[in-house]
Amino acid sequence: MTSGVLFYLNGERVELGQLDLDTTLLQYLRGAGLTGTKLGCGEGGCGACTVMVSRYDVEQQRVEHASVNACLYPLYAVDGKHVVTVEGLGTARDPHPVQERIALLHGSQCGFCTPGFVMSLYVLLRNKPAPTERDIEECFDGNLCRCTGYRPILDAAKTFADLAWKRGAVVEQTGTVHVDPAQGRGGGGCGIKDCCQLKKEGGSSGGDSQDKEAECCKSNGNEAECCKSNGNEAECCKSNGMEPGCCKSNSKDAECCKSNSKDAGCCKNSRGPNQAEADKLAVIARFKKYEPTQELIFPPFLIQYAKGTAGDGSRRLGDLALVSSDSESWCQRAFRPVTLDGLLAVLQAHPGAKLVAGNSEVGVEVRLKRARFPVQVYVGDIGELRAVREDAAGVAFGANLPLARVERELERLVAAHGAQRTQGLAAVRESLRYFAGNQIRNVATMAGNIVTASPISDLNPALVAAGAVATLAGAGGARRQVALADFFVGYRRTALRAGEVLVSVHVPFSAAGEVVRAFKQAKRKDDDIAIVTCGLRVRVDGGGRVREAAFAYGGMAPTTVLARAAMGSVAGAQWGDAAVLERLVGACQDELRLDFAVPGGMAEYRAALATGFLVRFWAASCAQLGIACAEAQWAHEAEDSAERQLTRGQQEFAPVADRAVVGHGVAHLSALKQTTGEARYVDDMPPVHGELAVALVTADRPHARIGGVDAGAALAMPGVRRVLTARDIPGSNVWNVFHDEELLATDEVHHVGQPIALVVADSRRRAHEAARAVRVVYSEDLPAVLTVRDAVAAGAWFPEQRRLQTGDVAAALAAADHVISGSSYCGGQEHFYLEPFGAVAVPRGEDGELDVYASSQNPTETQMVCAEMLGLPASRVVCHVKRMGGGFGGKESRPAAIAAFAALAAHHTGRAARLVLDRDEDMQLSGQRHPFYATWTVGVARDGRLLGLRMHLYSNGGFSRDLSIGVLERALAHADNCYRIPSTELVGRVCRTNTQSNTAFRGFGGCQGMLLLESMLCEVADHLRMPVDRLRELNMYRAGDATPFGQTLGADWNVPHMWARIQRDADYVARRAAVDAFNAQSRFRKRGLALLPTKFAISFGVKHLNQGMALVHIYADGSVLVAHGGTEMGQGLHTKMAQVAAETLRVPLDAVFISETATNTAANTSPTAASASSDLNGHAVHNACRELAARLEPYRARAAPDAPFAQIARAAYLDRCSLTASGHYATPGIDFDWAAGQLRFAYFTQGVAVAEVELDTLTGAHSTRRVDILMDVGRSLNKAIDIGQIEGAFTQGQGWTTMEEFLYSPATGRVLTQGPGAYKIPSAMDIPRDFRVALLEDTPAPPKTIFSSKGVGEPPLFLGASVFFALRDAVLAARAASPEAQAAGVLHLESPATPESLRLACEDRLTALARIPAAQKQGAVPFAVRI
Ligand SMILES: Cc1cc2nc3c(=O)[nH]c(=O)nc-3n(C[C@H](O)[C@H](O)[C@H](O)COP(=O)(O)OP(=O)(O)OC[C@H]3O[C@@H](n4cnc5c(N)ncnc54)[C@H](O)[C@@H]3O)c2cc1C
Ligand code: FES
Ligand code: FES
Repeated sequence: MTSGVLFYLNGERVELGQLDLDTTLLQYLRGAGLTGTKLGCGEGGCGACTVMVSRYDVEQQRVEHASVNACLYPLYAVDGKHVVTVEGLGTARDPHPVQERIALLHGSQCGFCTPGFVMSLYVLLRNKPAPTERDIEECFDGNLCRCTGYRPILDAAKTFADLAWKRGAVVEQTGTVHVDPAQGRGGGGCGIKDCCQLKKEGGSSGGDSQDKEAECCKSNGNEAECCKSNGNEAECCKSNGMEPGCCKSNSKDAECCKSNSKDAGCCKNSRGPNQAEADKLAVIARFKKYEPTQELIFPPFLIQYAKGTAGDGSRRLGDLALVSSDSESWCQRAFRPVTLDGLLAVLQAHPGAKLVAGNSEVGVEVRLKRARFPVQVYVGDIGELRAVREDAAGVAFGANLPLARVERELERLVAAHGAQRTQGLAAVRESLRYFAGNQIRNVATMAGNIVTASPISDLNPALVAAGAVATLAGAGGARRQVALADFFVGYRRTALRAGEVLVSVHVPFSAAGEVVRAFKQAKRKDDDIAIVTCGLRVRVDGGGRVREAAFAYGGMAPTTVLARAAMGSVAGAQWGDAAVLERLVGACQDELRLDFAVPGGMAEYRAALATGFLVRFWAASCAQLGIACAEAQWAHEAEDSAERQLTRGQQEFAPVADRAVVGHGVAHLSALKQTTGEARYVDDMPPVHGELAVALVTADRPHARIGGVDAGAALAMPGVRRVLTARDIPGSNVWNVFHDEELLATDEVHHVGQPIALVVADSRRRAHEAARAVRVVYSEDLPAVLTVRDAVAAGAWFPEQRRLQTGDVAAALAAADHVISGSSYCGGQEHFYLEPFGAVAVPRGEDGELDVYASSQNPTETQMVCAEMLGLPASRVVCHVKRMGGGFGGKESRPAAIAAFAALAAHHTGRAARLVLDRDEDMQLSGQRHPFYATWTVGVARDGRLLGLRMHLYSNGGFSRDLSIGVLERALAHADNCYRIPSTELVGRVCRTNTQSNTAFRGFGGCQGMLLLESMLCEVADHLRMPVDRLRELNMYRAGDATPFGQTLGADWNVPHMWARIQRDADYVARRAAVDAFNAQSRFRKRGLALLPTKFAISFGVKHLNQGMALVHIYADGSVLVAHGGTEMGQGLHTKMAQVAAETLRVPLDAVFISETATNTAANTSPTAASASSDLNGHAVHNACRELAARLEPYRARAAPDAPFAQIARAAYLDRCSLTASGHYATPGIDFDWAAGQLRFAYFTQGVAVAEVELDTLTGAHSTRRVDILMDVGRSLNKAIDIGQIEGAFTQGQGWTTMEEFLYSPATGRVLTQGPGAYKIPSAMDIPRDFRVALLEDTPAPPKTIFSSKGVGEPPLFLGASVFFALRDAVLAARAASPEAQAAGVLHLESPATPESLRLACEDRLTALARIPAAQKQGAVPFAVRI
């Protein structure tokens, strides 16, 4: 036995004699100063903590590299391994090719997720230096990014793909990339030098272009994506061509202008060369070559260590027995045996010990459920438990072989033994396909999954159906076998006896006539736990009669269950007979029926899934067995749910003048620091001497009176310094814009998660433990309202009401041919910035001075709240913001309270104090996007003209107003979207509920207003039996029209032009026909198409916030320091401001530096929000720089024309010329008079999008096949950054409307979706398969803004809803063929359109069977509610 661990970290040997056994690898790394590895969630769900762990496998005699989540990896398990972190790859000065490419191809915005992406790709390359594009897309399935929309990350990563590798070789030979002007887009084509597209367009080799296309798809390995094989011929040649929307496949442009009907719209004339492609190729040409041979080697010592042949004889990989170095640790002892006998011996000595393999279950129990296991045994290095053994009957998998290895073994076995014998094995492989993400599959094991016995385990139903048998070993090595079907004996209870371990799982080969399949449906396809899973098996005889059947389900009962009645219903029956299917579905439905209030919710959906899977299995099995049945012809649709092609992107913008700095798509100035882990975020700051940690004591009731707070037990804990309550606040306990909220609750709590007290302790862990020990006594529970609908019914709202009115609505409704009434709803959205709230407060020791370092979009509010709370003048408090790991509006107002809590702790202790929220805390208290509910009555003329609208909008504000009134105002001001309704009355209220205070989120109510209206338009169109596009077009504003708030749309009203152009570019008419044709031919899949416009008003809705300030110093060496009022959260504001400064001062971009945002260099700043920060601060920087440039002019004139700037700056300094200037800017011409209903914004950013989706009507799963966006952002300050903003915002909008469902428990008032495990944001594979973004640059009237640019941060978000409307279109197609749906009337679909709501909206026989009678729902409390 050895005690202490030995491992290598980034090539350096580390020995830890003593360690704290509770520590995860992530905690150790960050504590050791390697802060490049981030903590995003702590539950394996975001990938920000990804590192590479390499081990030498003695059995296989090879080194294995695996990406793992350091947040779940026990530190003691690294013994004998090599850990490589992002710091081990390269530095900003000398980056690794992975780091360089992601940085320079714009794959990093806020950068918080970036090290995780870097490491996932790095590990892939270590294992496979020339991966395919598919490998690359799949390697990111455990990484989340909230900023980029993934496309640039994928693009950068794909430069390593086999294809790009070849292209790289060409580039290297020539040294430059040849951009052929005739090709316009820097060559176009698929990337291969000899691409058929280039040959065709350039005509260099002539020949038949169709033949070349056929060759191409074969040669580039993209057959799956090829138009020839995926049925998308309609879209074909456009994709790589230089003339989108034009000359589809005719190889000549003879028909081009004809088809466009006007020369002005012709592709030949309207757009010049595409600079986006040229920029990309130029950057790629400068990339370092990737040299796999230059990678950090696996330390040879560790091979000897693993083999037991280390020369020094001192250490070897052997049994490890560790005792925690910290007596306070909950884990006291840990063992790491390397043999099964060793393990059994440890268990005999410590019968209660907890086995730990991948720790992906245990680790989550520890972190989220606070489980404590004082004795742990790591079983991941035991050879017998990792072995794979074949026998005549099947294959036995070592129980603790990581799932990624199991998957590879299954691939091998299926290939070796053929499809028929491996039906069961292939089903198990299928069940692993969407099991968690790579990082989890690299460590998690079969045993972990089986023994956890989760009712929604992915593996268990497949194993049960396949007839798997578990081998268990007990004391003394006694073995027994248990069929998996008998293994699960209750909720999370198994047949395993005390002291027993699971040794292996045997999966039998399949017999002739046998078919096995596994299906899974989750909220998100990748890295998500199942809603329902199943393993389905049938064996028929030669005549097609059923000899055996096994239908195993997860998600339908407290355990994995066999649907025995359903199995019985088919015994001996003729498989393929329609009556048998009917009987089977009915039996399954009866057997697996769930209560409305079932834990996990979704009772009807789950029931419909269970039968839907049977139908899919029926179709697939009949087809495979050659049995005729109606469904067999749809087997290809039934096999996999919405299979996704590889993604591809296209960006389009025009060139910028060479000498200009502004406009060029320079990479984010911090990108290389972000990819190398050098960029620092608040929690990366090294601890200040004597620093203390703060934790929150929060309410666990939604509405209650506080009787008292008992901190005795907490204060008795060693290391606890103070417990602070409202009484300890020396200044004001009241905060937020409306001053209607307490920092720390005094008498009453208004939502679960509301802060009541603070614990200040020596360590974060101790602070958290003590916080849990503080007892809050509640004297009375009070009525609680959670949902906006309940609040409306109860009249629970804040006093403010807002109204916009134009025309005579009553008269318009009276005159209308149709008067239609209804309601619309859209759910909220969690920001899910990757970096949770955090702040560090550092007292300066004199005059109450305090430095506050915060992750905040609003340094001034943070400064003010801290100062007011402490009773200090604002001049004593400086708030610093270096950067944020994402904000999206969520850090506009709410983080000020977090900073204030750190400040209060610092004030009372005189020491620095740090408060960083855990992900679940953040999601429980930080506020979300406001859900909205609207009721409407609309009058429409027979021809579709909208005549009058009365709409009442209600938002769910939560317990306090925060920014809710502003959000409501913006919703009202956007509820017209792009349509003229002559008589309109819009009335808005903010509902007061017992949830956290909802707050700003990118779009700030504007998106909600537009979504409510567009949802209404869809229903109106359905009533009128008119295509909704026609309705939109008919009512679209024209230049000169006025909005309901009295602002006239002027010469820069571009939407009608963009609406027409995108239809040409996206080939809308032909694709509509193709979608209809597809739908006519398919049974279980339907496609949908939508075209959506947006206009977004730019300016803060509060006049005084529309100002910006800047301070610019030029130093005598020619370097320039710019400070301005805006903060950097990934949106590239500092990069744009540096470009503005460089352009104005006429200096190179690298002469300009922006260090941070701080309230002592930019006072009274407005929050970085409202898409106005580039305008406001850009003008301020411009004004300051213009003044400095004027001062320098005489010195410039005197200097040589090519004199370096340093010489000019020095001459000015020596001449005693001031080289410092401040700038200020106030937006002219704006006004917001709500009393008069007259508003004037600075301008509108506009856009249009086309989205196409494919929906699996049996499950509600979908994929977004293609999206085209055309965005008017004026004359962009940085086109690459703006494209990134568009793609990122779109993806957030897509997530908001299709996937992200923020749920509360009505029973407890608690958020149920408190982390990435339950709350799903889009992952890399959810983005449009084909994602095209173009900037509108031929606008007639650019705005009078900074360099004529337009705000871009928020406006594209609403276009993400085009996916929602495309899904609605697909549902309509499904309903068209369903009598049940026809009877149900007009489709009412609410956002988010989750798989559950889509499936149920399809309304067919299966959903009708699954419906729970209304009487049974009456009075039942649902498991979860949307608020
Ligand atoms: C982000 C994330 C995503 C996930 N996604 C999925 C998913 O898609 N589908 C799914 O089904 N699950 C999922 N899980 C759950 C989990 O990953 C799986 O259950 C996994 O298989 C657990 O394996 P492990 O080795 O990590 O188990 P551990 O956490 O190490 O252990 C789990 C349990 O198994 C016991 N155990 C381990 N080995 C043995 C043995 N040899 N003998 C007896 N007992 C043993 C342990 O004592 C413990 O009780 C996910 C988890 C996370 C964190
Ligand atoms: S921090 Fe580890 S996965 Fe999120
Ligand atoms: S760059 Fe990915 S989360 Fe911000």
